[in-house]
Amino acid sequence: MHLELPEDIKQALQGFSIKNGPSGLSGTNIYRFEKENKMYFLKVVDVNNRFIDELEVEYEVLKWLEGKFQVPQVITFKKTSNKHFLLMTAIKGNTLEKLYHQSKSSEEIVKIYAESLKLIHGIKISGCPNKEEDEFMLLKAREYLELGINLDNMEDKYKNLTPLELYDKLLSLKPEKNDNVFIHGDYCFDNIIINNNMLNGIIDVGRAGIGDKYKDIALAVRNIQGDIGEQWLDLFFNIYGITNPDWNKIEFYIIMDEFY
Ligand SMILES: Nc1ncnc2c1ncn2[C@@H]1O[C@H](COP(=O)(O)OP(=O)(O)O)[C@@H](O)[C@H]1O
Ligand SMILES: [Mg+2]
Repeated sequence: MHLELPEDIKQALQGFSIKNGPSGLSGTNIYRFEKENKMYFLKVVDVNNRFIDELEVEYEVLKWLEGKFQVPQVITFKKTSNKHFLLMTAIKGNTLEKLYHQSKSSEEIVKIYAESLKLIHGIKISGCPNKEEDEFMLLKAREYLELGINLDNMEDKYKNLTPLELYDKLLSLKPEKNDNVFIHGDYCFDNIIINNNMLNGIIDVGRAGIGDKYKDIALAVRNIQGDIGEQWLDLFFNIYGITNPDWNKIEFYIIMDEFY
């Protein structure tokens, strides 16, 4: 395979061989490299990708989280005129996604998912380099709407809305008050790595930063409803520690995600 790399990345990868890739969602290419007992992941994003800025946020958040929480260690971040590159160490373990498809029961998955979120939301926010504010997300959503969005996975009750009508719905649900913590920002099963039944690290933190905790809770609710089953939501809320879920916010952030 031909993969053109900037000099610094080439240097860092001397003696490594490529084991996997490219793979990845939304136009990001992910490659896995190995040398003896070392494993690295390289993320490569084209500058024309609408989410290009998220790779630099990922780099900044990873650097900031170093020593505070289990995250990949950044080896190199590099921008060229047509691509951005992030080379990092691998977190040992399996994604929760993989565990779910392999062996774990729904109960175990939901427990780990809720416990992990509690840990992430407990990270102290002082000095955090990124903020995920509703206003800014709404502006971006509007931009993405113009570029074209895919609403195929949208819930049935919104199926007959046009993207613009959905955007108006989103505006009408905007929370009056935020409950800000450190959020992951894309809290999906394939973005947390589990080892020995415990969270061993978080990855894909390009939307992480200070934000409303319901941004993560909403994606968790959507993923549990969609992949595991509605009946597991109570256990999730119990373990996370919410007695009265704010369904308005959950709806707001689920719809928001449709634009991303
Ligand atoms: N540092 C890492 N450690 C372990 N696994 C990783 C790492 N980076 C990426 N992966 C694997 O690659 C997949 C995609 O990487 P991710 O950063 O989530 O990209 P995407 O933006 O495409 O979701 C992850 O779900 C995980 O399986
Ligand atoms: Mg991911």
